[in-house]
Amino acid sequence: MAILKSNIHPQQAGYQENYQKMQALVADMEEKLVQSRFQGADKHIAAARKQGKLLARERIALVLDPDSPFLELMPLAGLEVKDAVAVGGTSVGGIGVVSGHLAMIIANVGTNKGGTVDYITLQKSMRLAEIARENRLPTITFVESGGANLPEQAKIFNQGGASFREITQRSQEGIPSIAIVTGNATAGGAYIPGMSDYAIFVRNNAKVFLAGPPLVKMATGEESDDESLGGAAMHSEVSGVSDYLAEDEYHAIRLARELMSYLPVDPAAFRPDPATVKPPRYPAEELLGIVTADYRVPFEVRELLARVIDDSDFHEFKPSFAPTLVTGFARIHGYPVGVIANNGVLFSDSANKATQFIQLCDRQRIPILFLQNITGFMVGKKYEAEGIIKHGAKMINAVSNAKVPLLTLMIGASYGAGNYAMAGRSYNPRFLFSYPNAKIGVMGSEQLVGVMDIVQRASAAKAGKPYDEQKAQMMGAMLKQELEKQSTAYYATAHLWDDGLLAPTQTRDYLAICLAVVYSQTISSAGSYGIFRM
Ligand code: COA
Repeated sequence: MAILKSNIHPQQAGYQENYQKMQALVADMEEKLVQSRFQGADKHIAAARKQGKLLARERIALVLDPDSPFLELMPLAGLEVKDAVAVGGTSVGGIGVVSGHLAMIIANVGTNKGGTVDYITLQKSMRLAEIARENRLPTITFVESGGANLPEQAKIFNQGGASFREITQRSQEGIPSIAIVTGNATAGGAYIPGMSDYAIFVRNNAKVFLAGPPLVKMATGEESDDESLGGAAMHSEVSGVSDYLAEDEYHAIRLARELMSYLPVDPAAFRPDPATVKPPRYPAEELLGIVTADYRVPFEVRELLARVIDDSDFHEFKPSFAPTLVTGFARIHGYPVGVIANNGVLFSDSANKATQFIQLCDRQRIPILFLQNITGFMVGKKYEAEGIIKHGAKMINAVSNAKVPLLTLMIGASYGAGNYAMAGRSYNPRFLFSYPNAKIGVMGSEQLVGVMDIVQRASAAKAGKPYDEQKAQMMGAMLKQELEKQSTAYYATAHLWDDGLLAPTQTRDYLAICLAVVYSQTISSAGSYGIFRM
């Protein structure tokens, strides 16, 4: 037992001020999340109700077990992105429990642009598919989509094909998918039930065809109507595209839940006994005063851990070595996890410590949680001479080749190669979430503008040309503004660089669900040598 002792007192200087700032950031995030819950114009919602339909989010709520959480993924994808049809795209996706099994649940928002798939929605659905595959999550999709969003067709047509390939490859790997068709499913929309392991069609409302009656008339001259061309009854009784004809959506949801109840539990799954789980010894609420709203103000990462891990019990590894990187073992809701957390800049020693610790976790099949708050590796003559590149390379090597699941949380800065070494997006963590204060980029905007100034000044001098100070200043200011926008957590989440934003107070719950997911199957290990002491 090594209980973390907190030195935080809410009366301390800076705590209240930071609390207010962080609270404002969280309120802003929540306002944006409200936008993501838009389910279409009133006229489309009224039309859906008239047909006895539920809305996308209602369907998800009903298919989940009554006490299940729902970890919504990428709800802010597309936020303020040019041409994006909706915040979060025209689908809702996330993880929850259905008939006792963790599952990926996706619902097309048929009441917004007919649930058609634009660029952002496609990117989101590809990432949802990747999460389902990597974590062997059965998938339930509520299908109601007119297929490609036609004005966006050039951006989605080629890559879009992969969404169907994904379903069948998961099927080949024994990861089932269930499609519940609740409305129109045209062209691409039709291939979702077409490729899924189980297809449930709702009587009168499911209409599934490669081309609707007007296009058929144009192409072949044949007269048809929705029901005879692609109705639920025809597909259930004649074509066989549907496996189950549900009388209404409630019946369809019951059928899906029944199918889920027959799935076996992976014998390798680990489920801790909830009775043994102790909550952290300090309130999560205090994270708002601790996690600094401005990444330039450092904070003690153990204060965060003390409010996230079970019983605030942290078994620190190499506690007296390389103090700017904290490594150690903890449990979250009973799930063991190796923690690698920044507590300052990365030095050669920190990289070596991380490398050794990653090897340990990998060999012992313990998932690793990276808490990123990193302005980068240390630069300068002394550090180059001691070989900081090769030490950093070892850490990147270990992160790249570890086979245990990696989870990454952006809690502050994420700059430079520090982003890579700490399991940034391109290092394929199973999940990556960010706090709304997080900043991400090659370097801070001020530094980047400063570097550009030095480079351009030198280049002008080399060419024997005068350096236009005024123009350079104006360009620098514009570049800084653009960079600042592009390095926010909102820009990152809008462009799917993460799987979503969360408030610091939600950390424990989010991580617990992610760990339950990664612990629901065999955890593999990469190593072919014993652990190298670094
Ligand atoms: N691309 C872009 N927008 C589309 C679209 C498409 N493929 N299909 C529909 N929309 C838009 C409509 O313009 C309308 O927009 P609005 O809300 O701004 O008015 C909205 O989606 C709803 O369409 P609407 O036809 O009013 O709703 P509906 O529920 O009666 O029908 C569809 C929905 C999808 C069945 C129907 O619009 C349709 O058949 N679309 C064509 C589908 C198609 O041929 N896809 C081929 C893809 S390869």
